[in-house]
Amino acid sequence: MRICVVGAGYVGLVTAAVIAGLGHQVSVVENHPAKLAVLRRGETPIYEEGLPSLVKDNFRDGRLTFTDDIGAAAEKAEAVFIAVGTPSQADGSPDMASFYAVRDALCQLPYRSNAGRRLAVVKSTVPIGTGDALHHFFQKNAASRSWQVISNPEFLRQGTALYDTYNADRIIIGTEEEDAAHLLMKIYAPLGRPVLLVDRRSAEMIKYAANTFLAAKISFINEIACLCEQVGADIGAVARGMGMDARIGHAFLRAGIGFGGSCFPKDLHALLSTGQEAQLQLPMITAVAAVNHNQNLLLPRFLSELYGDLQGVRVCLWGLTYKPGTDDTRDAPALAVLAELTGRGAQVTAYDPQVKACWLVKQQFPAVAIAHDSYEAAARSEAIILLTEWPEFAHLNWNRLRHQVKRPLVLDGRNCLDGSVVEAAGFSYAGIGQKRYSLKRLQARTGSAEMGVALS
Ligand code: UGA
Repeated sequence: MRICVVGAGYVGLVTAAVIAGLGHQVSVVENHPAKLAVLRRGETPIYEEGLPSLVKDNFRDGRLTFTDDIGAAAEKAEAVFIAVGTPSQADGSPDMASFYAVRDALCQLPYRSNAGRRLAVVKSTVPIGTGDALHHFFQKNAASRSWQVISNPEFLRQGTALYDTYNADRIIIGTEEEDAAHLLMKIYAPLGRPVLLVDRRSAEMIKYAANTFLAAKISFINEIACLCEQVGADIGAVARGMGMDARIGHAFLRAGIGFGGSCFPKDLHALLSTGQEAQLQLPMITAVAAVNHNQNLLLPRFLSELYGDLQGVRVCLWGLTYKPGTDDTRDAPALAVLAELTGRGAQVTAYDPQVKACWLVKQQFPAVAIAHDSYEAAARSEAIILLTEWPEFAHLNWNRLRHQVKRPLVLDGRNCLDGSVVEAAGFSYAGIGQKRYSLKRLQARTGSAEMGVALS
């Protein structure tokens, strides 16, 4: 089949590369000139495990092409996948400008009497009712009446996008038009994944509800972690014990400094804005966002209590991306942490294994120094705060670091370091909700002879 994918972001490019790999002829529309130039060399403008070779191979074999001409690409296609961004606006609602631009471009395609049915597959995360509105919009116009609209939300995670696509728990197909559903099922059939057929609005809601539920699991475990701190329980043990209940499951119960990224925060706020429009209070979802906001700021606030004043204090930040395996810093907890630390006058040196992430952060926080590696970032620091669980942080030479820092303090925002190893090198260490290495214990030791020696 001839397929057009509009938008070469994570969702669009992964979808395009996977579908091309299934043997279809895929034309990707990207209107960002710099991105397009990279793609036209057969290269990948985003960092995603396995994607560069899949793009390169399909590009070389002529199944994957790139253009900025949506009209030409869509006109020849039997299915157009819409995967443009819908970023949050100031009021929390998604900015639909790019989506509407695609809608208008599809409507303006010349009428062809022999065009047959054509699929408009909405992969972008859009407000509930968007698919139905698109359907009615197309129906109003004789030239666009051949388009059949399907809501087909995406559930891939950045960093494991290809794995998630090939191993999808489910493919949601939202349409009440059977022939359209069958055509899309035919495209996905080689993946052999379970399909759930629903109406368009339910498909759109599934996406928001699934992301919000996962975010709720994280805020829940983070709230319990804070309680563990107070009552002397261990969040690792608690999460394991909870997760063994098949009704709860282990996934998304890793306590830490909270979630970030381009999806959870955006989708939570979009759902809250939908609630407002529907004049319905959504207290649970409101709480999920509020708990996360506090969690993002937990460590800088703790540090400021510990030291009394952060003016001029040298702080080292390890990890800027919102999670490992990506170069994305959108809504990363690191941004909230940086705003808080710099706002309190701390001198921050940051390091992330992804150079692009460092560069993006530097643009937003020009006063922050960027280091080339973990050791350089930690040099002369008075506190190290770990924000992203990149694997390389688990293999550092703590004795070497001990000689470089001014005050040996490590706050582990992802509970990913071995506290006994870090403390054996002479550091004071605390994670989040850890029984042995709680923030409360660290605080209690402040001023004590032990801590005085450790931090001097
Ligand atoms: C999320 C969903 O997991 C995908 O299913 C969805 O398709 C995607 O959003 C989207 O809407 O496009 P993603 O944002 O890429 O995927 O990353 P996740 O792995 O879900 O992590 C999100 C955030 O939660 C990260 O900051 C991560 O550190 C944090 N997290 C995750 C925790 O703090 N604890 C956990 O146990 C799990």
